[in-house]
Amino acid sequence: METIIRVEDLSVGYDSRMVLNDLNFSIPRGRISVILGPSGCGKTTVLKTIIGLIPAISGEIYLFDRKADYISEQYLDHLFLRIGILYQRGALLNSLTLYNNVALPLKIHYPQIPPEVEMEMVHSRLSQVGLRGNENKYPSELSEGMKKRAALARAMILGPEIIFCDEPAAGLDPITATELDDLLIELKSLFGMTIVVVTHELRSIRKIADRAIVFHNNGLYFEGDLKALLALDDGFINRFFLKGKANA
Ligand SMILES: Nc1ncnc2c1ncn2[C@@H]1O[C@H](COP(=O)(O)OP(=O)(O)O)[C@@H](O)[C@H]1O
Ligand SMILES: [Mg+2]
Repeated sequence: METIIRVEDLSVGYDSRMVLNDLNFSIPRGRISVILGPSGCGKTTVLKTIIGLIPAISGEIYLFDRKADYISEQYLDHLFLRIGILYQRGALLNSLTLYNNVALPLKIHYPQIPPEVEMEMVHSRLSQVGLRGNENKYPSELSEGMKKRAALARAMILGPEIIFCDEPAAGLDPITATELDDLLIELKSLFGMTIVVVTHELRSIRKIADRAIVFHNNGLYFEGDLKALLALDDGFINRFFLKGKANA
């Protein structure tokens, strides 16, 4: 299994406040990895550190087999072509149509793009997320599920190799959340996308995850296949997965 992200002795946090210590884990290419752990344990902080939004306290991050160099603007420009991010709130711009929201990264990164090429790319992404035909709608005219899918189309427009999703099901009803899970699975199987998802939703974890990374007690608690995680007989993991309860 090819590794696409690897962290070595990584400590993350804010100023002098350490949130997670001495992490070592890797993310395989072409799989769905979920990041799990109690609320406030540092999942979002790790994602933000990996994508270069906050500096690591110590340690190293390797992306695409190369040591990340978030100080270099050239590196960051290049990185943002290869990763897509689905923000928790979707973050569509309300004043732009669906078409223009999805086209925005293209317009920013490739201002010279011919309009017909842009249109083809936007239409193709909208088809992939099941939103073709809604180009002229504004975000206020879209359901929550459609907004998430639109945000996913925008995250994919530059053809990233990895998509990061921070709690994508937040604010979605169970049926819409399931549709989003199906879409993530499709992106993996049809396009070989590597997907990293922070989630609490047990049903979603069981459905989509190939691999799991669990944080607890300020460190890495588990890294491995979901099957191995579910097979563990461990107090913390059992509580997390509500084992033995009817809704498990
Ligand atoms: N911008 C920030 N400045 C200082 N502390 C923060 C900031 N963002 C989050 N934290 C703290 O870092 C810890 C981890 O937060 P976070 O990564 O958001 O957790 P999770 O995503 O697992 O719920 C929490 O204690 C949180 O209060
Ligand atoms: Mg979070």
